[in-house]
Amino acid sequence: MTDVPSHPLNDAHSLPATGFGTWPLTGREAERAVADALAVGYRLIDTAVNYGNETEVGRAIAASGVPREEITVTTKVPGRHQGYEQTLASFEESRSRLGLDRLDLYLIHWPLPRIDAFVDTWRAMITLRDDGLVRSLGVSNFTPEHIARLERETGVLPAVNQIELHPFLPQDEARAYHADKGILTESWSPLGKGSTLLKEPALVGLARKHGVTPAQLVLRWHVELGAVPIPKSADAERQRENLDIFGFSLTPEETAALTDRERLRLGGDPDVHEEF
Ligand SMILES: NC(=O)c1ccc[n+]([C@@H]2O[C@H](COP(=O)([O-])OP(=O)(O)OC[C@H]3O[C@@H](n4cnc5c(N)ncnc54)[C@H](OP(=O)(O)O)[C@@H]3O)[C@@H](O)[C@H]2O)c1
Repeated sequence: MTDVPSHPLNDAHSLPATGFGTWPLTGREAERAVADALAVGYRLIDTAVNYGNETEVGRAIAASGVPREEITVTTKVPGRHQGYEQTLASFEESRSRLGLDRLDLYLIHWPLPRIDAFVDTWRAMITLRDDGLVRSLGVSNFTPEHIARLERETGVLPAVNQIELHPFLPQDEARAYHADKGILTESWSPLGKGSTLLKEPALVGLARKHGVTPAQLVLRWHVELGAVPIPKSADAERQRENLDIFGFSLTPEETAALTDRERLRLGGDPDVHEEF
């Protein structure tokens, strides 16, 4: 089984250097995929209220036989549950669906600046952490401006910001800000959603040179940036492949060459995107 290193967090805990994404898996497929992911060695599992699969993620964890303390379970507060009391209630629902006593990493899914509730949401999360119900607190899709506001108004920085990150969108500014603040970057859609990226001739050629697959090359690119990719795959063989990225490395030139391309955002713009 692949030995996955870990990153220290700014709250004295740590996070595996790669994880398993569960969107858009639902129902039996989600349960089976998470069971497979735990069996091949993933120890960081990413879900969200809005993925509609917390129950199945929880079932797979319970049946896995992997000691609970070895697994980092992440879920996220959806926009419709933002606000202090709403977040406390949303947490209880997530905890119950997952069948867990406590969560390891709790994120705000999107900032939704228009409704202006992310600071109150964050305060509720701090309460949950102080009560021992959540280990680490983070955000997702937050810009440096949103994070600066959390720090200014609560004095508590997130340990993690999960953002869209892949070679089409290298997020230099966000990553520099995170590095400055000691925030770990998690990469969503790390494979560019399995799009044309993995078929690009230059990328395929570089993968061949390293004796790895195009997906492994791209996932290693995240590792070289110090980011934590959370690829999704419904297929146990590809899950194994995506985990096996710690036995080779890219030079700084190879890492830079992968981002020398036109920018393309595949998901929402955090300043305006609304996910309820
Ligand atoms: N915070 C947020 O707002 C947010 C937004 C989007 C996603 N996420 C999280 O990030 C996770 C990953 O993002 P994503 O699912 O959008 O995209 P992704 O992981 O970049 O790509 C997934 C796609 O790549 C394919 N794939 C996986 N491994 C492969 C391999 N080795 N070779 C070829 N194709 C491969 C998968 O197909 P198969 O399943 O058939 O292998 C699937 O179609 C999600 O599951 C979710 O947990 C978070």
